[in-house]
Amino acid sequence: MSTDAPKIKEDFAERLLGWFDQHGRHDLPWQHPRSPYFVWLSEVMLQQTQVATVTPYFLRFTQRFPDIESLASASLDDVLALWAGLGYYSRARNLHACARQVMQAHQGEFPSDLDALLALPGIGRSSAGAIATQAFGARAAILDGNVKRVLARQIALHDWPGSAAAQVLLWQTAEARLPHARLTDYSQALMDLGALLCTRKNPACNACPVQDSCASHAHQLTDAIPHAKPKRAAVHKCANWLLALDREGQILLERRPEHGIWGGLYSLPEFDDIEIAAKLQALGLKSKAPPVQLDTVRHVFTHFTLHAKPWLVPVNTDTAAREPGLRWINPLASSQLGLPAPIRALLDKLAQQHEHKSMAVS
Ligand code: ADE
Repeated sequence: MSTDAPKIKEDFAERLLGWFDQHGRHDLPWQHPRSPYFVWLSEVMLQQTQVATVTPYFLRFTQRFPDIESLASASLDDVLALWAGLGYYSRARNLHACARQVMQAHQGEFPSDLDALLALPGIGRSSAGAIATQAFGARAAILDGNVKRVLARQIALHDWPGSAAAQVLLWQTAEARLPHARLTDYSQALMDLGALLCTRKNPACNACPVQDSCASHAHQLTDAIPHAKPKRAAVHKCANWLLALDREGQILLERRPEHGIWGGLYSLPEFDDIEIAAKLQALGLKSKAPPVQLDTVRHVFTHFTLHAKPWLVPVNTDTAAREPGLRWINPLASSQLGLPAPIRALLDKLAQQHEHKSMAVS
């Protein structure tokens, strides 16, 4: 859905700026003075972090490092110490590297050009746009979390805003709506609208200056947009595990293939449903009694849940192959081996039951 006819573009910026003059944030600490150093530092701190959290950090930081020279000549440890508590520490490391790069490659002056800003450590497309507009009044688009929500609602974006297709559409919308004047105020106004009115929950649509051009409002979709990240369909896989038990109480382990889950680790031999006889034969084992099914083990991986049925089978090992990739272990001593967690838990349980039984007999 495109709502970017020229008239909408003009009205959008004009209405937004009118609202900003009265209700926007004009006294943020990085706006006085609005130096490139203050703007850059605040934009990096504000990545994924709210103004209220950032403000005391910004004040402490600028007291200690009032300019880019002092920051560039500080040790990384001192910078990290002042950053402690703000989170996402790669930002602090990039900040320090960026200060040094600006000193070395740009004689201590931040570049105003979008591509040159983008080439600096820790500055992505939206931060580059914010620095270019806030520090230099350049005509550049921004798309931080708040702005994404405003624009997604304006165009009634049917997609999750993080999808590749949605990103393209949102950047196009952000660029198409840029006015030709007051760009510093315009980008601040968009961020303020997102933070103050067009909030994720309970947006204040009645006070919104751009309600008329909001397709979500027109279609009563404000609560549903932006859409949440789609959840993957739950995937379940089943397996059978062989617990071959020899007369000394040892269990057979088999090394898993290099690729796939638990690649290269020792684990219980696995087989497809109804293939237990074939698996025993392949391993050179003869069962002494019918298999007994134990409680199913459930294990959650990132992309699927495994439901494994363990089958306990007492075996004769006279003919058991002693091939590489196979080993017999005593479940009581299994903790010394690097086993997958659910296999270790199963063997521990088995060992405990065995101990209980021995105690009951003695
Ligand atoms: N988030 C990112 N940049 C910001 C700014 N300049 N003001 C308020 N919130 C922001």
